Amino acid sequence: MKGIVLAGGSATRLRPVTYITSKQLLLVYDKPMVYYPIKTLVKAGIKDILVIVAPTFSGSFVNLLSMEQQKEKENGQCGDFCGVDFTFKIQLSPRGLSDAFIIGEDFIGDDDVTMILGDNIFLGHDFSKEIQNFKSGAMVFAKEVPDPERFGVVEFDKNMKAVSIEEKPKKPKSNYAVVGLYTYDNKVVKHAKSLKPSSRGEIEITDLNNIYLKENKLKVNTFDGTWADAGTFDSLNDIQNEIRARKSKGEVF
Ligand code: DAU
Repeated sequence: MKGIVLAGGSATRLRPVTYITSKQLLLVYDKPMVYYPIKTLVKAGIKDILVIVAPTFSGSFVNLLSMEQQKEKENGQCGDFCGVDFTFKIQLSPRGLSDAFIIGEDFIGDDDVTMILGDNIFLGHDFSKEIQNFKSGAMVFAKEVPDPERFGVVEFDKNMKAVSIEEKPKKPKSNYAVVGLYTYDNKVVKHAKSLKPSSRGEIEITDLNNIYLKENKLKVNTFDGTWADAGTFDSLNDIQNEIRARKSKGEVF
């Protein structure tokens, strides 16, 4: 299983600070945002990780992650990113989340892949079991939220089998948002290449998931940990407060 952290995009919602840095490098309480999704992959046993970044601040990602690893080596400690093999690639323009699998084609090779969004923060859930048990098709996670219209929304039948997924629907069919961690078999590269841009000009992850759904190969797990898409001022502020509160009670992230 390979891992991808998608950390490009232009983060217009977080301007003006994102004129001068990348959203995923912003501080989330005491660590750069991108540390959290990387740690989620590492905790799940994934150590071969492609980090996809936008051109403007790409050097900062390389500096940050290599310095962290160098520091661990010098101290003779095995820290957060011990044994992680990072590859970096640039996404020239924000063509959509599914573009990650086209950019990552060579990196993925013949393997399966788990992609996590660079602004998604997961606390209190370990994905290792689900990821290690993954065999084929696609697997996504859904969580009940008060504002589903901001996300991909999954509708379940009475047996909790997914029947539809819609991207940011005006009238959501449920409160279940698809969170930003996705596991696919190797066919994902071929499927991503077949996608046409949506009305907002992006090759959507929801369209990719719908290909697997139509083939009856999409597994949707519900998820009970804490999850934040830290892409707005409010969600960023909320998750910082939550991390601070949990750290003060001795929780380690
Ligand atoms: O957070 C979960 C949601 O993420 C899902 O429920 C939605 O189905 C999915 O479309 C996505 O929605 P967002 O509106 O939150 O996506 P956003 O444009 O904010 O992009 C998510 C991350 O991916 C962000 O860190 C920027 C990065 N990105 C985005 C695009 C479109 C890229 O690196 N390249 C891109 O082309």
